[in-house]
Amino acid sequence: MTAKKTYLITGGAGFIGSHLAACCLERGHGVRVLDDLRTGLESNLEGLDLEFLRGDIREERTVREAVKGVAGVFHLAALPSVPRSIKDPWTSHDVNVNGTLRVLLAAREEGAKVVFAGSSSAYGDTEELPKREEMAARPQSPYAASKVAGENYVRVFARVFGMPNVVVRYFNVFGPRQRADSPYSGVIAKFCRAALEGEVCRIDGDGGQSRDFTYVEDAARGTYLAMERDVPGGEVLNLAGGNRYSLLQLLEALSDLVGKEIPREFGDPRPGDVRHSQAEVSKAEELLGFRTRVDFREGLGRTLDWYRSKRPAHSGS
Ligand code: NAD
Ligand code: UD1
Repeated sequence: MTAKKTYLITGGAGFIGSHLAACCLERGHGVRVLDDLRTGLESNLEGLDLEFLRGDIREERTVREAVKGVAGVFHLAALPSVPRSIKDPWTSHDVNVNGTLRVLLAAREEGAKVVFAGSSSAYGDTEELPKREEMAARPQSPYAASKVAGENYVRVFARVFGMPNVVVRYFNVFGPRQRADSPYSGVIAKFCRAALEGEVCRIDGDGGQSRDFTYVEDAARGTYLAMERDVPGGEVLNLAGGNRYSLLQLLEALSDLVGKEIPREFGDPRPGDVRHSQAEVSKAEELLGFRTRVDFREGLGRTLDWYRSKRPAHSGS
């Protein structure tokens, strides 16, 4: 049994962060959350026995306060959207890069390990699939550039200051509590909502683009393992199932689940969009003993059930 520790989760009131908080609490650890509720919701933390600090990761005093006494920091706070970063590159940079540097400086002072939420967007459009951690970063959007910059700081702090930091790269995480009410929401959240409301799903492009959709409980467990296991400092690990599904396959699976054809329309592809995304998963398996447990269809069913249970709360924008 591992010793009980207290962990800080930045962005812990968000989608992935709230599942990670539950994962840490279930294993007997203490959890503190720092979140400014910009996209997160306090209701995501309902029923979880943790300490909640409302604040911005860009504020030095707030972050120093938040890291006091913690053994590790899961750094998830960020603005996680490609189109948002294209509309407003500065704010994405400020939160995702400057905010990360603030967190690293405070964690270094506290002697805390940092596990950073990286993104598969770092790979850009590689010809070769699956995407291996050793491939050069090829960001295609301001969002991707900001996440790569964050990763680089996390790794440099491992190299220069000897911190045991680890980067986990998520690949299109989906599941309960993902917001469906914003133009920047993830595709599965949006399509689940549309399917339940009988709305048209808008496909940006021809629907042939594919993603390694990963169920959120798996992503949270992998992130937790990256903190708990003895991984060499500065390591980068993909956390995903190693499969890919196109948007057309996603719509087909959703149609099966709701028992009717889901109406769709096609628009222009998004600027900065990546065509295919699929993870090489052997490194996380080797270093963390991590494999996903919930496959795409099972996860999609659970997710749809959750949105159904939340109607009409998630049925208006
Ligand atoms: P989310 O928007 O639900 O969570 C982000 C959280 O950070 C929110 O609760 C938000 O309020 C908080 N936050 C934002 N700016 C802040 C600031 N300045 N100070 C304090 N808190 C702030 O998104 P998510 O999908 O849970 O993403 C979590 C992390 O995972 C992000 O770092 C994101 O880049 C990364 N990621 C997500 C995916 C995905 O598929 N969802 C894929 C790759 C990487
Ligand atoms: C997602 C994550 C991002 C993460 C990245 C890499 C979200 C909101 N963003 O970006 O944090 O870093 O994965 O893992 O989860 N699409 C449509 N119609 C829609 C919405 C989307 O066709 O209504 C298309 C997009 O053009 C894209 C695909 O669906 O081709 C996935 O889009 P999205 O869910 O926004 O995720 P990514 O941009 O891949």
